[in-house]
Amino acid sequence: EQIEKGGYDHFMLKEIYEQPNAISDTYRGRIRVAEGIIKMAGIDDNLAKLLNAKRIIVIACGTSWHAGLVAEYIFEELVRIPVEVEYASEFRYRNPVIHQDDVVIAISQSGETADTMAAIKLAKERGAFVFGVCNVVGSSISRETHAGAYTHAGPEIGVASTKAFTTQITVLSLIALKLAERKGTISNSDFHYYLQELERIPEKVKDALESNDHIKLIADTYKNARNFLYLGRGYNFPVALEGALKLKEISYIHAEGYPAAEMKHGPIALIDEQMPVVVIATKKGHYEKVVSNIQEIKSRKGKIIGIVTEGDETVKRLADHVIEIPETIEFLTPLLTTIPLQLLSYHIAVMLGKNVDQPRNLAKSVTVE
Ligand code: G6P
Repeated sequence: EQIEKGGYDHFMLKEIYEQPNAISDTYRGRIRVAEGIIKMAGIDDNLAKLLNAKRIIVIACGTSWHAGLVAEYIFEELVRIPVEVEYASEFRYRNPVIHQDDVVIAISQSGETADTMAAIKLAKERGAFVFGVCNVVGSSISRETHAGAYTHAGPEIGVASTKAFTTQITVLSLIALKLAERKGTISNSDFHYYLQELERIPEKVKDALESNDHIKLIADTYKNARNFLYLGRGYNFPVALEGALKLKEISYIHAEGYPAAEMKHGPIALIDEQMPVVVIATKKGHYEKVVSNIQEIKSRKGKIIGIVTEGDETVKRLADHVIEIPETIEFLTPLLTTIPLQLLSYHIAVMLGKNVDQPRNLAKSVTVE
């Protein structure tokens, strides 16, 4: 097992550090940046079906559901198709309205999650076209779906999902870009520019990983907190949910993710000097609004950990700590903002002596209801 961990203390840390390669493995062979081409067999063979979809319904569980939420923002922005994101366990039991021209995208790392599988079968019975995004090649879900695209993240052993999440977002971005280009909902020059930016992401993930030691110090400062709040807006609202989930899963500290503006409708009541609040405040994406959310937290003495764009000065002045990530286009920021949140929960869990790779009560793949 030590050999399999490749010199890292835990599979989770190894998998966090594998992300630059995992992301490039996901798009390698599928994009030709100079020519402006995205080739994905599962998409190309079913292009008419996907282009004519009136609605996309994403079904998934856990971290994959969070990737689905990011995809909702990306698809609606780039492709202008309405998207609904459903927990598979809810979808399958509530007699959902499904039309023949709906496209269902099922997202699952393992390809074995029982609720997701049942939801796929239901959608198929009702006539929807079901597209799978799985990591495990040949898994049950990859066989049950009409078509699909693999994430090519390589095996993920740590129960807390890391590289599966970022590679799911990568695949979903490729699909959205391909459809947007075909539908003409983005310009040709934007399409080229977005592809170039995608190709720069692995290097930028490497830069984000450079904050590891700094994040370790922050982890040490807050490891005994009883609650954490994670806030983000737009594309980074799902990242806030995912950051909170990571912390809960492996450190057993209670954490909540919230859309930053929704804070005033509840969580703000919890904020005092004991409460660390992780705020994703990148330059793109409602930056000014997030800054005013940070001021609200500060005036209630909450401890602020800001995830900011390199060179940010405004948040640095307000926050107790900042973690910098490189700049990129807005819809790709989740691929970078997620990295420090993964490292923060990892270090807190290690410092608290928890079983990082196999947290209590959780399973890597949930094959029963
Ligand atoms: C379990 C795992 C999570 C995962 C979820 C969905 O709860 O512990 O990490 O996100 O199942 O799994 P899937 O394989 O369908 O993505």
